[in-house]
Amino acid sequence: MIMSAHAAGSCVKKTVEEGIVSMAINLHGRHFLTLKDFTKREIEFLLDLSLTLKEKKRIRASRPLMRGRNVALIFEKASTRTRCAFTVAAIDEGAHPEYLGKNDIHLGGKEDTKDTARVLGRMFDGIQFRGFKHSTVEELAKYAGVPVWNGLTDDYHPTQILADMLTIREHLGELKGKKLVFMGDTRNNMGNSLMIGCCKLGLHYVACGHESLFPREDLVAECKKIAAESSSGGAVSLISDPKKAVEGADVIYTDVWYSMGEEDKAAERKALLSSYQVNMDLLGATGKKDTIFMHCLPAYKGNEVTEDVFEHPNSVVFDEAENRMHTIKAVMVATIGDI
Ligand code: CP
Ligand code: NVA
Repeated sequence: MIMSAHAAGSCVKKTVEEGIVSMAINLHGRHFLTLKDFTKREIEFLLDLSLTLKEKKRIRASRPLMRGRNVALIFEKASTRTRCAFTVAAIDEGAHPEYLGKNDIHLGGKEDTKDTARVLGRMFDGIQFRGFKHSTVEELAKYAGVPVWNGLTDDYHPTQILADMLTIREHLGELKGKKLVFMGDTRNNMGNSLMIGCCKLGLHYVACGHESLFPREDLVAECKKIAAESSSGGAVSLISDPKKAVEGADVIYTDVWYSMGEEDKAAERKALLSSYQVNMDLLGATGKKDTIFMHCLPAYKGNEVTEDVFEHPNSVVFDEAENRMHTIKAVMVATIGDI
């Protein structure tokens, strides 16, 4: 039995040649809508499983874990990474992915969400949804009868957080106690989801941006409660001074200043957030040489990040992008696969 470094002593047992042979945590049949619904141990299990599947792909081990499964991939919004990650991950493990773009099906047009959910649930083993309202993915989950995975809504982007945490673990070793500063539009789907993920897994999350764009107070309170209840060691701070925020940071993370669907806010956000750009001056203000730079991508270079930071040796954005595939694969394998 070959155990990867992180899997040793964890919940995933495997032979790399044969695939996963046993696991201590059963997520079969579960939806994946936000990380709020998962315990620290369950999230760590998904990260361990991601590493195992990454190694399985590296050595081209052949036993597929989703043979005969069909997965529906609904996209109301554009996507490069998430779409490709679900598609490649499904095919790698023997499943058939079906892309359903916003003009391809009746959802949002002449059919209720709950009717589309019940139809797709009769034909598919799992459903990915990327779109606008978070209530749509919740309604799909309520009626589909099969696992529904959130590939991004206006409020949350949980599969991205798994990839981010795996990337931090690969580059910095431990997650617990690390300081992650999210610069920019801190009330967007990435800010919300990073705050939840950090509180679950024991990182110090710092939201840094204009105060008018700070995260919702109720979500901040909920995250602080999550950190306290799980004894993860996680914490949340909201800071509007960028240089003060990044002092001692292990990770500086940023995202676009206006998200998909907010294109009319471009000028307003630029005015509010230009002093929160991640540039070489800000990277230098951490006081550490090994602070890593992260971005979920796609990036708007010249807005939230400069070209030199994006291309800097400490930028791990393409490791992060690759890990979308390994972590999304873990979510599908854990919820509908043969483990
Ligand atoms: N990070 C991310 O979700 O990228 P896509 O929009 O390309 O899927
Ligand atoms: N906040 C961005 C994330 C893209 C992956 C958006 O929603 O457009």
